[in-house]
Amino acid sequence: MSTETAPGPALPTDRLIAQVDATLRGYVEGRGLPTGLIDAVLYAGLGPGKRVRPMLVVRAFEAVRGPVASLDEHPDLLAAATAIEMVHAFSLVHDDLPAMDDDDLRRGRPTLHVHTSEAMAVLAGDALTSLAFEIVLRDASDPGLGATLAGELAAGTTDMIAGQVYDTLPDPAAGDPTLARLQRTHRHKTGALLRAACRMGAICAAADDRALAALTAFADDVGLMFQVVDDLLDVTAEAEQLGKATHKDAAAGKLTYPGLMGIDGARDEVQRLRAAARAALAPLGNRAEPLRQLADDLAARRR
Ligand code: IPE
Ligand code: IPE
Ligand code: MG
Ligand code: MG
Ligand code: MG
Repeated sequence: MSTETAPGPALPTDRLIAQVDATLRGYVEGRGLPTGLIDAVLYAGLGPGKRVRPMLVVRAFEAVRGPVASLDEHPDLLAAATAIEMVHAFSLVHDDLPAMDDDDLRRGRPTLHVHTSEAMAVLAGDALTSLAFEIVLRDASDPGLGATLAGELAAGTTDMIAGQVYDTLPDPAAGDPTLARLQRTHRHKTGALLRAACRMGAICAAADDRALAALTAFADDVGLMFQVVDDLLDVTAEAEQLGKATHKDAAAGKLTYPGLMGIDGARDEVQRLRAAARAALAPLGNRAEPLRQLADDLAARRR
């Protein structure tokens, strides 16, 4: 018989998302910002996205500590989950700008620069970033933990930005092999924030070195997998289902998994990374089951 007690139910995802969204709204509305900026930040931050990164923060915490009944009892965790979604929202707003991917549709609605203006989209993206750090530092239960979480968020943000450069402004002089370049791009532009999400959840849970390493390895596999699925959906899905334009990557000359290894090769890669991510969680036992389930859901996602 296992000595590990069976964990209770994980925090329901709808409650998790509602608490994160309410925290974001409350902070932004109370911050004394120009009305147009508040509207733009809330449009981007509260749009109908999946909230994958906040889910990873909380599920990583639960993989160490067991189920969370309410995020109200964990202000550091709630702040980390809210902050990572704000940085993600910033990344999407800037990713869609005419100077970047030039997209008009995001989450089934006009992109922010179409809804408002390019200037406001640039500034709202900037504000989402600085507000994310304000929230983490405001809600830190002790200054050391706040600084550690801010450091993780900063590293993830910087690496994501580097990834956007690899993706958008590749260095023609860099003679790296193609697959190495593709992996570096995807691990940075997308993997970095998923890694920060899992690590912030683990740090809030006071994970020991072994648990932190397991969750970091999990995040690295899921982070790459998430972007391989994104590449696949660009080729295989319809805009109505996805909420964003499709068939854009090849047209823009982007380096992608289906472009490099075909649809079947990319699908095999998703399954390989899903299995590797699950295997990385072995040291955490059955407390990590909700996180394993999330990895399965992200491998099979249709939007
Ligand atoms: C889209 O991220 C951009 C990538 C990093 C692939 P999501 O697929 O998480 O987008 P939302 O937040 O659900 O809209
Ligand atoms: C997303 O890459 C990376 C970031 C937003 C940081 P994509 O450009 O492929 O994302 P989508 O497809 O526009 O959501
Ligand atoms: Mg892009
Ligand atoms: Mg894009
Ligand atoms: Mg994409």
